[in-house]
Amino acid sequence: MDNHTLTITDNRTQKSYEVPISHGTIRAMDLRQIKTGPEDFGLMTYDPAFMNTASCQSAITYLDGDAGILRYRGYPIEQLAEKCTFLEVAYLLLNGELPTSDQLDEWNCRVMRHTMLHENVRKFMDGFHHDAHPMGMLISTVAALSTFYPDVRNIADARCRRKQIVRLIGKMPTLAAFSYRHRLGRPYVYPDPDLSYTQNYMNMLWRKTEPKYAANPVLSRALEVLFILHADHEQNCSTSTMRAVGSSNADPFSTTAAAIAALSGPLHGGANEEVLRMLDEVGSKEHIPAFIEQVKEGKRKLMGFGHRVYKNYDPRARIIKQVAEEVFEVTGRNPRIDIALELEKIALSDEYFIKRKLYPNVDFYSGIIYQAMGFTPDQFTVLFGIPRTVGWLAQWEEMMLDPERKIARPRQIYTGADKRDFVPITLRSVHDRELVGA
Ligand code: ACO
Repeated sequence: MDNHTLTITDNRTQKSYEVPISHGTIRAMDLRQIKTGPEDFGLMTYDPAFMNTASCQSAITYLDGDAGILRYRGYPIEQLAEKCTFLEVAYLLLNGELPTSDQLDEWNCRVMRHTMLHENVRKFMDGFHHDAHPMGMLISTVAALSTFYPDVRNIADARCRRKQIVRLIGKMPTLAAFSYRHRLGRPYVYPDPDLSYTQNYMNMLWRKTEPKYAANPVLSRALEVLFILHADHEQNCSTSTMRAVGSSNADPFSTTAAAIAALSGPLHGGANEEVLRMLDEVGSKEHIPAFIEQVKEGKRKLMGFGHRVYKNYDPRARIIKQVAEEVFEVTGRNPRIDIALELEKIALSDEYFIKRKLYPNVDFYSGIIYQAMGFTPDQFTVLFGIPRTVGWLAQWEEMMLDPERKIARPRQIYTGADKRDFVPITLRSVHDRELVGA
């Protein structure tokens, strides 16, 4: 370990410092000792968007973006997607180990027992406009749920924390399905705990007058796989939001609502919705070259392409492509898949994309499947949020138990005005930069 250090020479003072390297990382706080004098605050790092900063230590998800590897708790995503149910993977993410058969039965039962909503939630739903975006409804109703449970703030108690986690995982599909039916003006369907997690979700979405909803097994398995693929993805934008908000000891419902808000953006989970709009706009294969030209000129983005961490094919996109073919056997082929495949082919052989290591990400193909299954594009990000709730909560609980936990509070480099004296309003002149919209 002796040589696992970094020697830094400060050319301002000619002083040298030795800082330890652990896991290929130095601690930013070790730089604070590097000063020009007693008045100096000490050296900081500047890393907008956290391009090269580890914000935590985590044992949940391993991601190697150059090699295109994704593992939950050490298990390759490909194996989990092939062999597990979604709730089995949820158990793994939260507990670190796969459940035994008894543990899984008990876990399934616990989650499904928590799928019911308080009747007042219907009133919230009814308050939304008929065309309210489902993500807005989800953010609001998840936050509102924090007011229903007096124990929600008792986050220091392990049992209580687990209770909120099960509540959130159980209720998320119910909220999502209620928002879906609200938009269609259909009566809400209550959860059926006899069904599996995804079958029950489909039941609440699509049941009409039949006494018992029977989901198509290929489609419910496809949804299960998609949920597994979306369950966690280490320190992405929404998970970092979850950790940042949770670090203030906010309750897990409010914290999850903040994470859903982060997910809703088109550069994150909202990209799957944008991909569908983009494919519709491209319309047919012969328009692809012109579209690609626009992307290369910087006028557009190829939505569903590129990733902060993956500089290789996103392993989730590869699995989703296979699932798409299975779904189309049941639903008929979504013609957008052919446009997507052609876009991918052209993009992957084009210098612009090769140079920048831009590959399809999870969102490139997921929307095509969702649409074939009957979802409208504005539902796609909700379908991302339901399973990601598990990852958010696993990461939140890991943070709560981290002995190094402190409230998230980055530093800044101040670039504003120096100290100046107040000017009475009668003596002020119009300044150069008019405030926009003021
Ligand atoms: N289409 C065209 N060009 C792109 C794309 C894209 N989708 N993504 C990145 N680039 C280009 C950038 O313009 C930049 O080019 P330059 O070096 O000439 O300026 C270069 O590739 C690097 O891109 P950055 O924006 O610096 O990469 P960053 O890591 O900051 O962004 C992001 C990652 C936000 C995912 C980006 O690739 C993007 O906007 N993709 C489209 C939206 C999308 O699909 N988001 C879903 C991501 S997966 C998820 O969140 C679940």
